[in-house]
Amino acid sequence: MRFQDVISINDFRKEDIDYVLRVAEKLEEEVKKEGTLEYARGKVLATLFFEPSTRTRLSFESAMHRLGGAVIGFAEASSTSVKKGESLMDTVRTVENYADVIVIRHPREGAARLAAEIARVPVINAGDGANQHPTQTLLDLYTINKEFGKIDGLNIALLGDLKYGRTVHSLAKALSYYNVRLYFVAPKGLEMPRHIVEEVSNKVEIVETNNLEEVIPEIDVLYVTRIQKERFPDPAEYNKIKGSYKVDLKTLENAKDTLKVMHPLPRVDEIAYEVDNTKYSAYFKQVWSGIPVRMALLGIVLGVVE
Ligand code: CP
Repeated sequence: MRFQDVISINDFRKEDIDYVLRVAEKLEEEVKKEGTLEYARGKVLATLFFEPSTRTRLSFESAMHRLGGAVIGFAEASSTSVKKGESLMDTVRTVENYADVIVIRHPREGAARLAAEIARVPVINAGDGANQHPTQTLLDLYTINKEFGKIDGLNIALLGDLKYGRTVHSLAKALSYYNVRLYFVAPKGLEMPRHIVEEVSNKVEIVETNNLEEVIPEIDVLYVTRIQKERFPDPAEYNKIKGSYKVDLKTLENAKDTLKVMHPLPRVDEIAYEVDNTKYSAYFKQVWSGIPVRMALLGIVLGVVE
């Protein structure tokens, strides 16, 4: 087995990422042919979601079903004994008795790492606060590779709330393994944290700007994120900055013909609906990528695929 848990993209070497993408490609072909596979027959996944989710939880559940396994879990902590004061530690110690693998989303940074240290079964981080969302990153890389047949050589812009957006934190780090140029495009106050800029700029060229219009003709991938309202300590700060950028057909007038617009979703108002049915839109293809990539991750940590 290449890795036991999936907690942070920092734990992955480039060859681990390439391995996951290869396994995902194989499973995608098989699942498209067969519908449901048998690799995880008899195995149980527990999904512990302490924060809201549509895609991550449902795609993990779907991925486990498509691997032939079973799923238990909760979508909100208020329906569990956490409501009575049970700690995360005791919740994990309990659930490891019921499942062969745990997927956890939690508002606290480091919660998934803590769960992995406690649990005797593999743990997968489905997002921990504003920190990381490594499985989203892997499906983002998978989508880029599918769209362009490569990742190397691309100019990739990350647009939006780069301060609180965990998907862009993981993605910037993972992309630094490739031969890419990165553009960090953020409204003032929502720039990429300095420690990530420093880490990534040691490996790839970075352009930091507040002006998307200026860089749009150069880029191959425009990765848009919403403003993470729930992470603002002061709602007044969110109200000041909300709606400060929007990608619409006018924004894309000077884009390359081959540009792909991506978004981890959910979207609020940062991509106009008029973009959805254009050649640029790749965000619903990204949603599908969640299935083969999460099948691959579940299969690898369970030791049932290679
Ligand atoms: N992309 C993503 O994490 O979506 P959800 O919050 O719906 O899981």
